[in-house]
Amino acid sequence: MRHREPYLHLRSLDRADVAEVAALLGRGMADSPLHVAVYGGDEARRTRRHESLMSVLLSGSPSMRVVGVEQGGSLIGVAAAVPPARCRPPAKTRLRLLSRALTFGPGAAARLLAWNRAWTARDISEPHVHLGPVSVDWHLRGRGIGTLLMLRHTSHLDSIGVPGYAETDRPEVVGFYRRHGYAVIGEADVLGVPNWFLRRPPR
Ligand SMILES: CC(C)(COP(=O)(O)OP(=O)(O)OC[C@H]1O[C@@H](n2cnc3c(N)ncnc32)[C@H](O)[C@@H]1OP(=O)(O)O)[C@@H](O)C(=O)NCCC(=O)NCCS
Repeated sequence: MRHREPYLHLRSLDRADVAEVAALLGRGMADSPLHVAVYGGDEARRTRRHESLMSVLLSGSPSMRVVGVEQGGSLIGVAAAVPPARCRPPAKTRLRLLSRALTFGPGAAARLLAWNRAWTARDISEPHVHLGPVSVDWHLRGRGIGTLLMLRHTSHLDSIGVPGYAETDRPEVVGFYRRHGYAVIGEADVLGVPNWFLRRPPR
C-alpha cells in the first residue's frame, strides 16, 4: 500500500507554542550566512543560541503574529510578522535580548548589535507589515510549505492594503520572496555578508 503523508495544517500560533517555534527557528536558520558570521562556526552552538534569543523575542513580542504549518502534530514551518509601527520589540524585550546576547560573550553580542543596527537603519519609514523570521524545516524545503505560509501572509497584506517588508541574507530566498510580489529595494553587506531588503507594494 502507498504511504500517505499526514495532511498539512496551517494555524495561528500563540504563547503555548513559543518553545516549539524557537526550536524550529534555531535549527532552521543555523545554516544562514549571517548566523555563521554572528554566532560562529559550530552548528550546534548556532542552533542553541538562536533558539534561545528567539524564545526571548517571541515571548516578549505580543504584537507578533506567528503562523505555523504542522504535519502529524509536529511544527514544520513558521512565518512571523509584526503589524505597522511595531517593528521594534518593546523596550523590556530589547533589554532581555541584550542580556541574553551578552551570555554568548562580548564578541557575539557586539556582532548581534551590529546586525540589529544595520537592519533597523534600513527599515522603511512608511507603515508596513514586517515579515520574518520565516523558516521551514530543512529536510522538508522545496515542497510548497513556504509557499503556503507566504500565501497566508500576502492575503493578509492584501486584505489590509499595506506594504510588506522583509530582509534576507540568502540569494535563493530573494527569488522566493519575489514570486510573492516582493521587490528588492536595497542591498548591503552586513558583517561581510550580502543582504537584500525587499518591499511588497500594497494591492
Ligand atoms: C525560504 C523558505 C522558507 C522557503 O520554504 P520552502 O518550503 O522551501 O518553500 P517552497 O517549497 O514553497 O518554495 C521553494 C522555493 O524557495 C526557494 N528556496 C530557498 N531556499 C530553499 C531550500 N533550501 N530548498 C528549496 N528551496 C529553497 C527556492 O527558490 C524554491 O523555488 P522553486 O519553487 O522555484 O524551486 C525555506 O527555504 C527556509 O526555511 N529557508 C531557510 C530560512 C530562511 O532563509 N528564511 C527566509 C529569511 S528569514
